[in-house]
Amino acid sequence: MAVLGALSLTLEVPEIETGVKFYTDAGLASTVEGNVARLRCEGQDRDSIVLLGGYSKKRLHHISLRADDLDGIAARICEHDGKIVNAPEGFEDNGLWIEDPHGMLIHLSEHAADPELMAGNPYEINAPGRVVRSRRSAMLPGASYPAARPLRLGHILVFSPDVPKSVEFVTEALGMGLADRAQDIIAFCCARKDSDHHVVAFAKSPGVGFHHASFQVHDPDEVGRGGRALHAKAGKGDWGFGRHTIGSNFFHYIQDPWGSWFEYYSDMDHIDDYSLWTPTNYDMADSLANWAPEVPHDFVHNYEVDSQPAREHA
Ligand SMILES: [Fe+2]
Repeated sequence: MAVLGALSLTLEVPEIETGVKFYTDAGLASTVEGNVARLRCEGQDRDSIVLLGGYSKKRLHHISLRADDLDGIAARICEHDGKIVNAPEGFEDNGLWIEDPHGMLIHLSEHAADPELMAGNPYEINAPGRVVRSRRSAMLPGASYPAARPLRLGHILVFSPDVPKSVEFVTEALGMGLADRAQDIIAFCCARKDSDHHVVAFAKSPGVGFHHASFQVHDPDEVGRGGRALHAKAGKGDWGFGRHTIGSNFFHYIQDPWGSWFEYYSDMDHIDDYSLWTPTNYDMADSLANWAPEVPHDFVHNYEVDSQPAREHA
């Protein structure tokens, strides 16, 4: 086996206070020690986002993935143009620290699996020829609903200067599977057993960087309500409510204080056994969404790369 799921991402940021406000507004719980902030989903015993304050600008420090067979992975890193490196100063020297072919730092550890999430009520809708609800409303008044509460970090999308090379590395060296892609511009990779459609994804850019972290919520309504509420509080860009073609998930993205994105999602495709999955190479028309509002002009802009021309639309 190999990579089993996403654990967390660590960002360097100018100051942690705005990040703590953004992510706690998003529904994560925070702890702050000195210039380090840790954000986690309520009910989980581990962090999903770590912010390191005091840097000149936002930059991806590393992503952390849950894995097994670390010795097997270590033996494959160099032949696929990666590097095994020492733990960065201040971080535990456990598991395996590596750099991918583009210098992106990845921490692999044999962290225990998260507990199974409790199943809620089925999300069903009245449809032609199939009435599942009569003599009652589906919706309560908006104020009746609690704030969105992320259940778990599902996936991390990062920028890559060479998407096929990044895919080769995570599939051949880290034992992931290519779930789907759109040409050589964007690619989505999963674990090979019992995985969300994607755990790590790559979007083409002149350099590496963090694009978005995506958190699962209970259902599409919570995606929509949570996205709208967080957008109002954060005061920057948003994209959604919409539905992806690749992965099928409903989404709402809200821009974080540094120009990257936070995603609420619901109803993502599941791959129980990668050997029974066939990847599709989609046209660019389906690379971003099946349906959604207009894409923000800087949705795929990598603010971690200096002197990059702004992209109009993906
Ligand atoms: Fe996403």
